Amino acid sequence: MTTTTAEPASLTLENLRKTYVARGREPFEAVKGMDLKIRPGELIALLGPSGCGKTTTLRMIAGLETVTAGNIKIGDRVVQDLPPGKRDIGVGFESYALYPPLSVRENLAYGLKARGVKGAREMVGRIAERLEMTELLELRPASLSSGQKQRVALARALIRNPRVLLLDEPLSHLDAAQRQRVRRELKVLQREFGYTTIVVTHDQLEALSLADRMAVMNAGVVEQFGTPDEIYDNPANVFVADFVGEPKINLFEGTVERRGGDVHVRVGREGTLRTAVGDADDGRPVTVGLRPQDARPAADDEAGVPAEVAVYEDFMEFGLATVEVAGVDGRIVVQTPHGVHWRRGDIRRIAARPDRVYLFDTDSGGRIR
Ligand SMILES: Nc1ncnc2c1ncn2[C@@H]1O[C@H](COP(=O)(O)OP(=O)(O)OP(=O)(O)O)[C@@H](O)[C@H]1O
Ligand SMILES: [Mg+2]
Repeated sequence: MTTTTAEPASLTLENLRKTYVARGREPFEAVKGMDLKIRPGELIALLGPSGCGKTTTLRMIAGLETVTAGNIKIGDRVVQDLPPGKRDIGVGFESYALYPPLSVRENLAYGLKARGVKGAREMVGRIAERLEMTELLELRPASLSSGQKQRVALARALIRNPRVLLLDEPLSHLDAAQRQRVRRELKVLQREFGYTTIVVTHDQLEALSLADRMAVMNAGVVEQFGTPDEIYDNPANVFVADFVGEPKINLFEGTVERRGGDVHVRVGREGTLRTAVGDADDGRPVTVGLRPQDARPAADDEAGVPAEVAVYEDFMEFGLATVEVAGVDGRIVVQTPHGVHWRRGDIRRIAARPDRVYLFDTDSGGRIR
């Protein structure tokens, strides 16, 4: 698609804070000092549970919410005191108002024409096709479903030609199949246009699959900022490990056992797993993190964790065994390869790649390396 694209800009948040103050209520700190340096043209996912401050952060960047402290920079320019219209930011917020008397096509073409872009009609047609909304073009906004409105809002944000694009849950109202297709198209369009983009989501698969880098947020702070690989392979703490990954990582208590140069972790009454962790004292109680995908049936001559199968689900490509380990609270889920058929009541031994056995400090939740 050819268009005159604004030069992509970096976006920097420095110690960004937001405290909401309402009469008769305790002040509430929703964003507690965010630092993010986003490169020109990068696609960032802001991921975190409900209420962690994602929308607040976007609204501050867009200028829809005042900043309590800190800086927002686009390129070298500090923008937090500029009105929204002067920031050169496109927003695809769900509630984004469309002009009711105009058709969707006219709504979309409006901004292009105002900027004097030639071939506005064709451009609207092409982008509508790619976002699966051609059939919506002649409709009025009032007749759109929420999923349809969402695609229109996305198209409108993309067409606006901003230096920074902010999208808050842009696909939340689409059905599963369409969501996948539009997500792929969004990624391709973002590359073509080259906008520096933040996509807010609480869907970790969406974040992992879309983003160049992702920021995992919790209660107003960024717990970790990195590529999807870094976040998945090297979670900084229990929160990130627990939030990212499907099925969820197993977290259980263990005790460090040093044997010669090797570090093992004792699990339950009889189990042992070797880990690649270097910096842990013998006897230290730890929280062990083991992804179902990183656990496997132990080889005959290999140490491991004896476990009793409580449930076995066979999905053909793989199976999921939910097992119980003597002396460990809660159950552990293990992904087994195709062709393994465990049954309830089986006693099996579980092993794992040492570099995939994570240890966390039991009190702080921080990763032990
Ligand atoms: N105008 C406001 N006044 C007071 N508190 C607010 C206001 N807006 C948001 N909050 C609070 O700030 C916190 C962060 O809200 P925010 O909308 O940023 O969360 P979020 O991460 O976008 O969540 P969700 O995934 O549910 O959209 C929440 O606890 C919310 O209740
Ligand atoms: Mg939100």
